[in-house]
Amino acid sequence: MTDATRAGPVVTLDGPAGSGKSTTAREVARRLGFRHLDSGSFYRALTYGLLQAGIGPDRWTGLGRADLDAIGVGVEPSGEGFQVLLESRPLMDEIRSPEVTSLVSTLASLGPVREWLLAIQREAGKRGCLVADGRDMGTVVFPGAEVKVFLTADLLERTRRRLKEQGVTTPTDEQVSQEAARIRERDRDDSERKLSPLRRPEGALELDTTRLTFEQQVETILERVREVSTASAEDDRARE
Ligand code: DC
Repeated sequence: MTDATRAGPVVTLDGPAGSGKSTTAREVARRLGFRHLDSGSFYRALTYGLLQAGIGPDRWTGLGRADLDAIGVGVEPSGEGFQVLLESRPLMDEIRSPEVTSLVSTLASLGPVREWLLAIQREAGKRGCLVADGRDMGTVVFPGAEVKVFLTADLLERTRRRLKEQGVTTPTDEQVSQEAARIRERDRDDSERKLSPLRRPEGALELDTTRLTFEQQVETILERVREVSTASAEDDRARE
């Protein structure tokens, strides 16, 4: 049954780097008329903000709530999703730079950082009608989500997708092995950290997208949302 304080359901998509979470979540949200929350962009914005403030990774373990407040990172609803801001300035591709990508998992392993972002993510999602993607959406941030999905894909396929996103359509063997090593390292950091590690949420639909087309993976998730919505409407009618 849908939470009474919400206007509509929450759908969560968790999975490792390059599993296609964000593009899939954005399209599922668009077709449902829901908002898309890309939680990775929040971690990236904070990483970028700290680097811009001259606070390097050697000082991150000592960060407290007040330090994080002072960085000036914010989030606002925008279009079909949420826009991350630094001192009210929209952040775009700069949060996807190789430097930010290589450091974001380190920041994401810290308790005060996860706590600080937890509040922002829950506030953003409190009205529901949301498709949220990340590593701990179904386990920690929105444990009561009506639909939970865990996306996976072979390492090689995820590497190919990441390179394509970067505009590399015919990569050399060396480019593939370097990118695969970076993804494997990030997977290991995200899965082995003590706090909110990447896990398949209980009851989640597990979707291996290696051999699925984009349309097939979007449609499989929409089908699950329809099933759950129908079951919930039937429950509500039975209670009346
Ligand atoms: O999905 P992404 O590559 O933009 O995520 C960037 C990093 O942020 C990822 O390596 C781990 C962290 N992250 C997290 O710890 N929890 C989330 N819910 C989302 C991202």
